[in-house]
Amino acid sequence: MSRNKSLPPGESLIHPITSAIEPIDLAALFTTEQPLELELGSGDGSFTLQYALANPRQNIVALERLLGRITKLDRKGHRAGLKNLRLLRAEAAYVLKYLLPHGMLDAIHVYFPDPWPKKRHHKNRLISEPFPSLSKRLLKAGGVVYLRTDDVDYFEQMLELFDGAAGFDRTETPRPLKALVTDFEQEFNAQGIPTNHAAYRKIGD
Ligand SMILES: C[S@@+](CC[C@H](N)C(=O)[O-])C[C@H]1O[C@@H](n2cnc3c(N)ncnc32)[C@H](O)[C@@H]1O
Repeated sequence: MSRNKSLPPGESLIHPITSAIEPIDLAALFTTEQPLELELGSGDGSFTLQYALANPRQNIVALERLLGRITKLDRKGHRAGLKNLRLLRAEAAYVLKYLLPHGMLDAIHVYFPDPWPKKRHHKNRLISEPFPSLSKRLLKAGGVVYLRTDDVDYFEQMLELFDGAAGFDRTETPRPLKALVTDFEQEFNAQGIPTNHAAYRKIGD
């Protein structure tokens, strides 16, 4: 079997997106109804896997656009027998804007999103001007956006956007969550590059 071979549909945790306009019924992806969280840009998914294993009473949807990475996470999640993890292979900005139901999420996790360091490429950053309002629309009241990055300039942009957005209060990232490091985080920290953490709680409706 080749390393990147996809699992058959009956075994795969990847939910195929079949419509470009109909919202995805996220709750219907799971057998148990329980709090629902979304991770954007899950990469190889080491964090995702640890998080899903540590939190069986939460449903987690991980979204990633690269086939090789999501296929790898699919195989790991399937092997671990996870019932609380489902995967989407898609472009995050489009899914956030058009395909997710509103007011359903307890948390959104965005860890080490591509920093696009050149100024002329900043427009490609996932955490850009529309992100706070898009995430606010998807979160339940009290839901939290968790952010991590190694990139100081991108971190400042994240803080500026969320501090300036109506309807969010800055909060702490819980220690048990911080303790689950991502693949990229592990690599950066091993090089002596620290993680910048931020978390913002949705207030009101
Ligand atoms: C730098 S990696 C970080 C991966 C993981 N979060 C970690 O911390 O190890 C960023 C990931 O986000 C994915 N990604 C970047 N932009 C995306 C987008 N617009 N939609 C979906 N995935 C995206 C990339 O393919 C990549 O796997």
